[in-house]
Amino acid sequence: MATNRTFTMLKPDSVEKGNIGPILEKITASGFRIVAMKLTQMTTADAQAFYAIHKERPFFGELVEYMTRGPIVAAILEKDNAVEDFRTLIGATNPAEAAEGTIRKLYAASIGENAVHGSDSDENAAIEGAFHFSGREMF
Ligand code: RTP
Ligand code: MG
Repeated sequence: MATNRTFTMLKPDSVEKGNIGPILEKITASGFRIVAMKLTQMTTADAQAFYAIHKERPFFGELVEYMTRGPIVAAILEKDNAVEDFRTLIGATNPAEAAEGTIRKLYAASIGENAVHGSDSDENAAIEGAFHFSGREMF
């Protein structure tokens, strides 16, 4: 995947609260093009693999429970400087510390249930995009 792409998930809390539309509007209004997108639900094994980097952390069990409890919207997004610009758009992991106007400030409830995922590097964006999408689902 090119380095102008990032990967996102609108997490189960965003879907449950009816926030898919407003969050996608904010993403596209911020200059990101949708390359791939689907409503899907991760299995426990999926979430354990996706967040394997956090498997020793005390919140890992809660994180897997949260991420598998309902559907998510998975998407690949394209923009110059996509990874960094998307992390700026979503805001800090803890919504209490997120900047005004960021997606987490607007839509996240807590550090554990924080509305959206954003890849943290070009390398992880490629791995995470390929985790959810085949080449035929990317446009
Ligand atoms: P993400 O990977 O989902 O985009 O979030 P992030 O980079 O901002 O944060 P990261 O450190 O990668 O943490 C992954 C997700 O784990 C949950 N978390 N809970 N209870 C806690 O202290 C805690 N810390 C992290 C969040 O859902 C976080 O987004
Ligand atoms: Mg992360």
